[in-house]
Amino acid sequence: MFNTKWLSKKEIENLILEPLTEDEILACRKKHSLVPFLDEIVKGTTEPGTGGTAYFHFLNREEPILDCTSQAWSLNLGHAPADVNYAVAVQSQYSNHVRYGYLTPIRVKLVNKLASIAPGQLKDGRVALNNLGGGGAVEAAIRLAYVNSRSGDQIVTFFRGYHGSSLALTGATQQLGLAIRYRPFGIDRWLKTFFPYCYRCPWGYKGGLGGKKDPDCKLECLEFVKQHIEQYHISGVAAVLIEPNQGAGGQIPAPVEFLIGLKKICKKNKIVLIYDECQTGFGRSGKMWISEYYSDLANEDVSPDILAATKGAAGGFPLGITLAKPKLKMLSEAEEHSTYSSNPALMAASLITIEILEKNKIPENAAKQGAKISKFLNELKEKYPQIGDVRGPGLFIGVEFVKDPESREPNNELVAKFLSSALKNNILFGKSMPILKKSGEMMRNIVKIKPPLIISDEDTEEICFRFEKSLKDALEK
Ligand SMILES: Cc1ncc(COP(=O)(O)O)c(C=O)c1O
Repeated sequence: MFNTKWLSKKEIENLILEPLTEDEILACRKKHSLVPFLDEIVKGTTEPGTGGTAYFHFLNREEPILDCTSQAWSLNLGHAPADVNYAVAVQSQYSNHVRYGYLTPIRVKLVNKLASIAPGQLKDGRVALNNLGGGGAVEAAIRLAYVNSRSGDQIVTFFRGYHGSSLALTGATQQLGLAIRYRPFGIDRWLKTFFPYCYRCPWGYKGGLGGKKDPDCKLECLEFVKQHIEQYHISGVAAVLIEPNQGAGGQIPAPVEFLIGLKKICKKNKIVLIYDECQTGFGRSGKMWISEYYSDLANEDVSPDILAATKGAAGGFPLGITLAKPKLKMLSEAEEHSTYSSNPALMAASLITIEILEKNKIPENAAKQGAKISKFLNELKEKYPQIGDVRGPGLFIGVEFVKDPESREPNNELVAKFLSSALKNNILFGKSMPILKKSGEMMRNIVKIKPPLIISDEDTEEICFRFEKSLKDALEK
């Protein structure tokens, strides 16, 4: 496919693939890198050139690791999916980079495709693309909300939310004041309010399990949020930005009734509703979008005015996507652009990823395998009182570990032991973002199970088997 010009193919392969020495690793870790790294080094897929697998290798470890993190929940098609990589090669024969202002054939195809698969009221609407990822998509959504709203300049975000790590978005994200050593910019722009965490309901309802509200709950939290939005802002509210099912914060689904009510509050007050589907888009919930999952539950359209997406959009390559409903005013050239955000190869990766998701019914597979894992975990919950709550949907699963089911006290210690046992059992799980208190107390007790969506029946059985084994091992420690 390629004839190289300046170096031979062998030279290129050697430079990239030559094994590392211990000295090289040490120089990078201890001397040159400005950021810290985890202990293990990721080598990559076990099947170079074929790819699309849930397994990968750490350097210097014999056994392949079953990846229930999809590497920050992004590899929906697995490690090194060959079809996507082929698409990148095909497109990059022609160009690597064009200026943001130019259309390219692949951009035409991708923008139209995304508009056609957008959920609910976003269908056939408008699309902005970037290669910065989720933060870029969320920021474009907020800029678009400002362009379309006259009701103020504050943005409502929620406790335990995660929207990105840029200087602006660290303000939108759950405040990690003890972990980040500087103050986010524009903190007065954000109005932080309560997220409906039904398992830990401050109104005392105890039956909020599995992401559903307690049957007796009267949505007191929604009334609280309504008052906050309508009465307790500083300079008016332009938009509400919410993850319908929080990822980093701990796999916490908003009950559908909350989202129905929130949409009504936004409509009544002419506030733009933005869903952050950076984690939940592209099939992870068992539907292409979690907006569709919730609309089915609600039996009405609960899709937002604007939606931000990224992970899973392009087989692991960076693409940020902002979807808007048809009648919104557009962003100007000055309001949305960045040098690298029109990368044709990465857009090809996304077009082919979407084709694979649709043609091979990958979201349906996520629903099927996710239901099996959740059923298994709910049965395990009956055996192990340390499992407090199991939440989905699809392959967007959280397991909340507690000291006992009555007090629901977070069991951080067990999660730490469980994750290290899991690695010994050659399986990688994630854990929730830390919620820190000045006293040193911390909440980090939710295990995340978010493998690639292409997992087979056998992979699912392995996940269940290794989960239980790791839990038993952790409890024996
Ligand atoms: C819900 C959500 N929004 C936004 C982001 C930010 O995406 P990125 O890290 O690509 O900027 C993330 C990343 O984890 C996320 O989970």
